This record gives sequence, structure tokens and C-alpha cells, in this order.
Amino acid sequence: MRLINLSRNLALGLGLSLGVGLLMSGSALAADSATARHHPKEVEFEFEGPFGTYDRGALQRGYQVYKEVCAACHSLQYIAFRNLADKGGPEFSEAQARALAAAVRVPAEPNEQGETVDEKGVPLTRPAVLSDKLPAPYPNENAARANNGGSLPPDLSLMAKAREDGVRYVYSLLTGYDEKAPASFHVPAGKNYNPYFEGWAIGMPKPLNENGVTYSDGTKATVAQQAHDVVTFLAWTAEPKMEDRKRMGFGVLIFLVTLAGLLFAAYRKVWKDAH
Ligand code: HEC
Repeated sequence: MRLINLSRNLALGLGLSLGVGLLMSGSALAADSATARHHPKEVEFEFEGPFGTYDRGALQRGYQVYKEVCAACHSLQYIAFRNLADKGGPEFSEAQARALAAAVRVPAEPNEQGETVDEKGVPLTRPAVLSDKLPAPYPNENAARANNGGSLPPDLSLMAKAREDGVRYVYSLLTGYDEKAPASFHVPAGKNYNPYFEGWAIGMPKPLNENGVTYSDGTKATVAQQAHDVVTFLAWTAEPKMEDRKRMGFGVLIFLVTLAGLLFAAYRKVWKDAH
């Protein structure tokens, strides 16, 4: 009898807490879904699909957009200047990559006196070389937040893979600033309305503008074009060996098909007279 009572109380208690838990998570979900991020735009990229490769022009223009726009706030910590000349990447010539590096300044090593700052306390810099990683815009997270109203601009190296819908998400985010917020939605001070961002209020100001960069290959720099190019570039930084992987996959497939054919021929030959 005692045992039955105990188990009944236990079951009641469990049931009650489960119910309350469900109710609470239900209301939390309801609150979130009002400002849940919009479904990303339907855009397609050349590098998708089993045989897709990166468009070299887009990669090279994408680097330009990153460097001239995004690099003011976002790091790209896994990429070195020499990678810009890698096969399967933007494929700048080595001389071009060297010149791109030399155009960027990175923190200098200590000089002969062991100093890393000049007499005014300004950190010493030098032109980058091929082996340098792309420099981060801020020395640390606190500085990054302090310069961005408390929001942290994340490293972009793996961003195209880190978020659900990766490339389409980043594209939508970059091109999603021109929509009008519904009257019922209050955009907090220092934030910007962007319905593709979870919660709709993003700390990043609209980064891309019509003709915000001037492409050397004559491509018209619309916002959509710049977004397409920089997203292609970020897809490559997130998966620099994609073309190798696809080529390898195709090779393996051919090999397996050939092997299957040979085995079948051998099988027929071996069993031909065995009745
Ligand atoms: C003026 C600074 C600034 C510039 C320029 C800038 N961003 Fe941002 N970005 C931010 C900040 C701040 C955040 C964090 C926003 C937040 O958490 O509310 C952010 C967040 C992001 C995110 C992550 C969104 C998420 O889901 O967390 C992506 C992707 C991004 N930026 C891409 C870019 C790209 C690509 C460019 C260049 C075209 C760029 N940003 C230019 C400041 C900037």
C-alpha cells in the first residue's frame, strides 16, 4: 500500500512538472516565433551541386569586398595571404597575392630595441607578406564590442558553414536591410532592422551600398552583386578544398563503376561453362 502511494505521488509529481515545463517552453516558443528569422532568399551559386566549382572572378571580387568593407569589423583568422594564390581558390598569381599582402599592414615584430610601439604608444606595423594571416581589425573581444555598440562581429572564416542555410543565410542578411519594419516592431537603439536575423534587430549596420566598391574587372557593383561575390568568397574560406573533394568523389565513382564492370565480366567468364 505504501509503495503504491509512493509511486502514485511520484507519477503525479512527474506529470505536473512535465506539464509546467511544456507550458513554459511553449510560451517561450510562441514569443520567439513572432520575430523568428525569415526564410532565406532563394539564390543559387555556381559552386553548388556535385560538379559546381567556384567562379574565380566572384572569388577575386569577393576578396575585394571583404577587404574594403567587412575587414573593418570582421577577422578571417584562418586565411593567409598566400592562400589567395592557392589552386581551387581565388587563384590570384603569386605576384598579385604578394601585392595584395603588401597593401595591408600587420602588427610588426619587436624592433632592435625590443619595442612594439612607437614613442607615442602607437603599435608598430609593417606591410604583410605571403605567410602572414589576414590581420584582425581589433586587438581583442572587448575592443571589438566597444567599437560596435556592445555587439561582437564574429570571425567570418567558417560562417558560410556555421549557420543553417549557410550561404543563402549570409546572402539574405547582407541584402536584407531595405525592408520596412512592421509598425508593431520596435527597433532598439543602436540596432538595425533585418528580418533575416533571429530577433530582427542586428548590431551590424547595413554594410553594402550601391557602388560601395569599384570592381577592376568592370562588373557593376550592385548590392546583390557584392553580396553574391563576398558570399562566394566566404564559401571558399569555409571550405578551401571543395573542388578537390568533388573531383576526388567523381574519380572514386568512375573507379567503382569500372571495377564493377570488370568483376561482372570475370564472373561471366568463370561461370560460362559451369553447368
Ligand atoms: C561596422 C562594422 C561591420 C561591418 C563593416 C560588417 N559587419 Fe558583419 N557584423 C558586425 C557586428 C557588430 C555583428 C554582430 C551583430 C549582432 O550580433 O547583432 C556582425 C555580424 C555578422 C554576421 C553574423 C550574423 C549572425 O548570424 O550571427 C555575418 C555573417 C556578417 N556580419 C557578415 C558581414 C559581411 C560579409 C560583411 C562585409 C560585406 C560585414 N559583415 C561587414 C559588424 C560589421
